[in-house]
Amino acid sequence: MDQFCIRGGKPLRGEVEVAGSKNATLPILAASLLAEGPCRISRVPCLRDTETFLNLLTEFGLRCEKKGAGVVEIDTSGARTGTAPYDLVRTMRASVMVLGPLLARFGHVRVSLPGGCAIGARPIDQHLKALELMGAEIELKEGYVNVRADRLRGVRILFDMITVTGTKNLLMAAALADGITVLENAAQEPEVVALAELLNGMGARIQGAGTPVVMIEGVERLSGFEVEVPPDRIETGTFMIGAAITGGDVTARRCEPDHVRSLTLRLREAGLEVTEGNDWVRVKNGGGVRPVSIKTAAYPGFPTDLQAQFMALMTLAEGACAITETIFENRFMHAAELIRMGACINIDGRTAHVEGVPSLKGATVMATDLRASASLVLAGLAAEGETVLRRIYHIDRGYERIEERLRTLGADIERVAES
Ligand code: EPZ
Repeated sequence: MDQFCIRGGKPLRGEVEVAGSKNATLPILAASLLAEGPCRISRVPCLRDTETFLNLLTEFGLRCEKKGAGVVEIDTSGARTGTAPYDLVRTMRASVMVLGPLLARFGHVRVSLPGGCAIGARPIDQHLKALELMGAEIELKEGYVNVRADRLRGVRILFDMITVTGTKNLLMAAALADGITVLENAAQEPEVVALAELLNGMGARIQGAGTPVVMIEGVERLSGFEVEVPPDRIETGTFMIGAAITGGDVTARRCEPDHVRSLTLRLREAGLEVTEGNDWVRVKNGGGVRPVSIKTAAYPGFPTDLQAQFMALMTLAEGACAITETIFENRFMHAAELIRMGACINIDGRTAHVEGVPSLKGATVMATDLRASASLVLAGLAAEGETVLRRIYHIDRGYERIEERLRTLGADIERVAES
């Protein structure tokens, strides 16, 4: 297993190009299961999760070929339905996104139930309830869900809660259903919009993506596609917070500033200078960070996927603030590790009360999930002395060669084998 050795105290400075979005790539790959024709996807980030999803697609007869420079070509001529096995779904919950497309196209599919994960229970009841309303028969057996429907039919679906993957799954299922499906209380995340635009390019008829009500008129078939993955807004935000926490000045290029609006506003409140253009955003820390309280929410609210990184920043703020996590019930695992670095954090249910300290001190800490790892890397970059971050396979799920890119910004960070 690898670990990161970080010698903190060096401000991040310079320009960095943002990679394609992990959470947009996975549904795009899932959509290839609907395609009657070849698919070509560019700006695919080289990550553990994208690798896992490509492996998953081969279980369903797709032939995926990496062409270098982030391009993946998929031959969909052998597409068939089958089983998404436990070992893949367990390592990557996003695997449940094969449910909608395979059911809609082939009339049945078998998917392992994901089970809980480090950040919460994360059930898929909303996906299943919605598919049932569309006429699917669902049977749970031996940890797997077997879903059947000769042809799904369009209905009105009101999600009990906002679910990103649930919305994506239903968009793909409804695209080939009989009649009109209306999704209410739909997720509005940019990755949902990217998927809807892709599906429309394949011949689907979807209106309203990016709003809480989405209408999908089913069609008979969908074609192959060529698409570029949009920029990763969580990675953009991570670099922005990296500039802030290290007292640096970083410009993230090839990003979408609108997608990080909620972070931009909070950073400005915290006293940072944030400027932006069409496809870049620059964060400069002119000195000091004021405390700012946040509450995570579905898009366009403050993303849960930046909560851990923002908490790292607030540990060094000039005062106290409250960080409330509303999306996942167990997403404060980084707090205990930040405390080991000298942070002052008290958890009370879903709220973390953070009292800023003058400095963090390097320590050996453990990554528990993807965004917690990012938070600890940022804390390590700002801390005095050396931080050793263990279990960095978590960070490789969602950030491409993060240490190399941080080094180009002046960070002292190395990947070494755990002794
Ligand atoms: C997506 O997860 C992202 N993953 C997550 O990114 C992100 O944190 C999350 O959305 C919220 O923005 C991908 O896009 C691959 P949800 P998802 O369904 O879709 C509950 C990262 O670090 N719920 O919106 O799985 C659920 O338990 C990650 O990149 C149900 O109860 O999240 C959670 O508490 C991790 N029943 C909340 O809703 C359901 O049927 C939101 O879940 C579905 C969800």
